[in-house]
Amino acid sequence: MFVNNADGIFFTASYLYICPKFEWNMIYITRRETFNAAHRLFREDWTDDKNTQVFGKCANPNWHGHNYTLYVTVKGELNPETGFLFDLKELSAIIRERIISKVDHRNLNVDVDFMKGRMASTEVLAMDELEDSIRIGGATLHCVKIAETENNFVEYFG
Ligand code: NI
Repeated sequence: MFVNNADGIFFTASYLYICPKFEWNMIYITRRETFNAAHRLFREDWTDDKNTQVFGKCANPNWHGHNYTLYVTVKGELNPETGFLFDLKELSAIIRERIISKVDHRNLNVDVDFMKGRMASTEVLAMDELEDSIRIGGATLHCVKIAETENNFVEYFG
């Protein structure tokens, strides 16, 4: 069960009950942003055959791209004055500055500082984003979720 308004705000009530880091008496809000990027999954110490065997089409030496969808969920207590946990426009600006501006229209293997020397997988990307933890006002970062395709999602709870 969720509500998705024009600002991309999700209230995922049913999701909270299965979330491993769910805390009672907290409000959870999620901002959705999108970016696209190129990458290649491979290990230099493996042969081309082994890379293709393990990573499939994502091992293509000439790169390939994905349209990623990023969901950043923050949690905290409601501000009784505003009825907000956190201003979602401000959350959007923070995500764009700290994450989207670094990865959008880039090659994750060669253009992105925090991915240097690491596997350019969606899992690593999600974990690196959470390491630069968002702590703003009364809200703290709860989860980073990245959809690489319509069928593949990664969630990281730190
Ligand atoms: Ni890929």
